[in-house]
Amino acid sequence: MLFQTFYHSKSIFPRGHITDLEILRIAQETNRHLRLTGFLVRANGCFFQYLEGGVHEMLEVLERIRLDTRHFDMNEISVMRDEPRQFPGWSMGYADVPPDEVRTLEQMLQNCHGNLSEIVRQVSDIAQQHGATPLEE
Ligand SMILES: Cc1cc2nc3c(=O)[nH]c(=O)nc-3n(C[C@H](O)[C@H](O)[C@H](O)COP(=O)(O)O)c2cc1C
Repeated sequence: MLFQTFYHSKSIFPRGHITDLEILRIAQETNRHLRLTGFLVRANGCFFQYLEGGVHEMLEVLERIRLDTRHFDMNEISVMRDEPRQFPGWSMGYADVPPDEVRTLEQMLQNCHGNLSEIVRQVSDIAQQHGATPLEE
């Protein structure tokens, strides 16, 4: 079974700040070790993140992410499903969505009405459109 989580949150630091790189480095290192995979989106002052993996590993990392003071107002959805990973081989991908596209992205996500499969599809599209390259590759 695959545990999948998606959340959005508000960042303390603005777009372009060095913290995103620091978050990405620690995320890739820890997630590789815990066999978690996923994708982080920076959209102006917000983060969107999708994570997938084993339930215990996920709960451990989510607890740390919840306590991280670099962001706040975290809003999560999680499901447990019998399906393959959406981001195999990506310990954590990253995309910085251009400011003029953020509104459209927010609307698309709102239109998913909390349906995680739809959300994952949108996140995959973002990964493709913005040519996100994980640091490790
Ligand atoms: C938006 C955001 C996304 C993060 N994503 C991850 C992640 O995918 N995996 C991870 O291990 N840490 C992630 N972190 C970092 C954790 O919150 C935490 O700093 C890190 O796991 C180290 O934990 P520790 O300080 O308790 O050692 C993220 C932090 C933020 C703010």
